[in-house]
Amino acid sequence: MTDRIYNVAIDGPAGAGKSTVARRAAAELGFVYVDTGAIYRAVALAVLDRKVDSTNEAAVASLLKDTNVKLQWEQGVQHLLLNGVDVTDRLRSPEVSDASSRVSAFSAVRRFLLETQREVARQQSVIMDGRDIGTVVLPEAQVKIYLTASAVTRAERRCKELREKGLEAHYEDVLRDIEERDYRDMHRALAPLRQAEDAVLLDTSALTLAQSIEETVRIIREKLAL
Ligand code: DC
Repeated sequence: MTDRIYNVAIDGPAGAGKSTVARRAAAELGFVYVDTGAIYRAVALAVLDRKVDSTNEAAVASLLKDTNVKLQWEQGVQHLLLNGVDVTDRLRSPEVSDASSRVSAFSAVRRFLLETQREVARQQSVIMDGRDIGTVVLPEAQVKIYLTASAVTRAERRCKELREKGLEAHYEDVLRDIEERDYRDMHRALAPLRQAEDAVLLDTSALTLAQSIEETVRIIREKLAL
């Protein structure tokens, strides 16, 4: 490993396997894995806990004034501190997923979280996953991958993941949520989800998880000449 700092951006829609692929690829390469969805989810959690209307931009912007979001790593595992409290385990519920997609459309929220992400990437080699990492957060990233899969494949995977965590999952509901979230993430005015011009497209619909990780690591090694 060299002392150079490398930034790898992985963007794509909900449930494409970004987090698992990025985490495992980062472990293989010795990079830090940064899940940026967690910071939007933390803002959503603050909104829900404080019973703020998630469709009211002014109310959400006002809440941000006394909200602190911090990313921290313990043995390579990312933890999210919301106002100093570790809320990592509360971020993955369907309510938080839905609210995170809504609040992430607000400019105040995106501005609030931008520097947090850039600061993390300046300090160490990262694989950062999100929606706008290659296009907005780290436009200079040396590697950009757009990881996607069909909506049906993604809904099946998300159901399995929720059930494995002991949460209830109905396929039709999960598929509808994914399609709604895709639509919102891709059609918002600010930093919409889209493939950066210099990103490599990786469709994992027909790939196993192991193949998706292998292909991701291969692309990164090739681009960085590692
Ligand atoms: O990746 P995720 O499902 O945890 O993300 C939750 C929501 O946060 C997603 O619906 C859109 C938003 N998000 C974003 O707008 N930009 C990012 N870089 C990451 C997530």
